[in-house]
Amino acid sequence: GPQKELIRESWQTVSQDQLHHGTVLFSRLFELEPELVFLFQYNSSHFSKVQDCLSSAEFTEHIRKVMTVIDAAVSSLDCLSSLDEYLTSLGRKHRAVGVKLESFNTVGESLLFALESCLGDAFTSDTREAWSLLYANVVQSMSRGWHR
Ligand code: HEM
Repeated sequence: GPQKELIRESWQTVSQDQLHHGTVLFSRLFELEPELVFLFQYNSSHFSKVQDCLSSAEFTEHIRKVMTVIDAAVSSLDCLSSLDEYLTSLGRKHRAVGVKLESFNTVGESLLFALESCLGDAFTSDTREAWSLLYANVVQSMSRGWHR
């Protein structure tokens, strides 16, 4: 449908520089919920400054992982349920590292922020609505990782 087309078209633009737009997403996330930076612990120590986290090799890899999951969702728009089990286990992993399910609302806001920063006026209200629905769908599957 037309919503899928809006997502595919806009993602084509955004994915030309996934690392940059992923960094915009997480910079926004850490502005809105600064405590989340402490959940990123590599070598069992956390970052004391957001900037140290954003520029670390391990966190940069996490940004790539996030963008890969979004890319998979965009590629699977016609059969999102095929990602169900994967996303449930991904949710379980995030619960295990101390993420609260509610924080994924802030992640969603930050995703829309990053998309809008990239697309400008091309990020129409229809495009925003299409992405909100897709994101809600992904979080719905991940949320099973908190419930069972
Ligand atoms: C792994 C934190 C959001 C995808 C991890 C890890 C942490 C973490 C600490 C383990 C270390 C690592 O692999 O770098 C968080 C926090 C988030 C967040 C605090 C926001 C509240 C997301 C989102 C996605 C995602 C939105 C994708 C939709 C992944 C993937 C892995 C991962 C694919 C690797 C899982 C594996 O090892 O199998 N995350 N994450 N994360 N995260 Fe996140």
